[in-house]
Amino acid sequence: MKITVVGAGAVGATCADNIARKELAEELVLLDIKEGFAEGKAIDMMQTATLLGFDTKIKGVTNDYSQTAGSAVAVITSGLPRKPGMTREELIGINAGIVKGVAENILKYSPDAIIIVISNPMDTMTYLALKSLGLPKNRIIGMGGTLDSARFKYYLSVALNCNSNDLQGFVIGGHGDTTMIPLTRYATYQSLPVTELLDKATLDKVAADTMVGGATLTGLLGTSAWYAPGAAGAALVESIVRDEKKLFTCCVALDGEYGQKDICLGVPVIVGRNGWEKVIDYKLNEEEQASFNKSADAVRAMNSVLHDMQLV
Ligand code: LAC
Repeated sequence: MKITVVGAGAVGATCADNIARKELAEELVLLDIKEGFAEGKAIDMMQTATLLGFDTKIKGVTNDYSQTAGSAVAVITSGLPRKPGMTREELIGINAGIVKGVAENILKYSPDAIIIVISNPMDTMTYLALKSLGLPKNRIIGMGGTLDSARFKYYLSVALNCNSNDLQGFVIGGHGDTTMIPLTRYATYQSLPVTELLDKATLDKVAADTMVGGATLTGLLGTSAWYAPGAAGAALVESIVRDEKKLFTCCVALDGEYGQKDICLGVPVIVGRNGWEKVIDYKLNEEEQASFNKSADAVRAMNSVLHDMQLV
């Protein structure tokens, strides 16, 4: 099994590091456009192999897509990260061209690859990959909701002072500060609804903190976060290559599910060997559906920039 991660920046390298530590592939190719950068990161990671006890071979390459040939999964992290005060949406002009080129190159050498999109604005980049590659929709997965749901559970665990692994919770909708929807009503602590454990003000604060989770870190770090985004990408790779069929929120092409069409947006899906295999329908109440529709409108407006740029 071979896996490719494109972009050896902080998110791509962290994703690659997680994939190697979990031994999800015999061969892992890390590709970057910057001369020697991926090679350096790959060698540094390979020098942890005897310390951490993993057996994945990591190979760094500078823009040589022929080395990625035959990959089962490709993770795209390319593009600029956001700076403090910047929205993910502001990156579209720069990142759209980069992501399209990367996705086409991947497909040229790995026609059967499942593509995981991490680059921002993630919902629009996933839609771009869907529209420009012409692949079956199940093979294009945007990572955003997986990360946002992990952040949601982190903030819930702080509020409840509990082990975050005892929590379940999903964030659906777009991967934007105002478009994501923490589904508080369905979040549970070992099957107990969190709505029975926390008051409304606390739950509202958890939801608000989750929505600006990425922006908070960008403010602290001076650039986008990488540990959780990289780990979220690797968790999806794991569910694919081990055919775990775990339920994650991912950005996928909707064709009537959750009342939306011709858009990629975050919903709970089963992730396995065939990519995202099935959308799970959490019945939304009127308020949640209205938020979901509003999120779709915002993402659709963003997607229209791709038409203006003549990329789709
Ligand atoms: C974040 C970026 C990766 O949310 O979108 O941290």
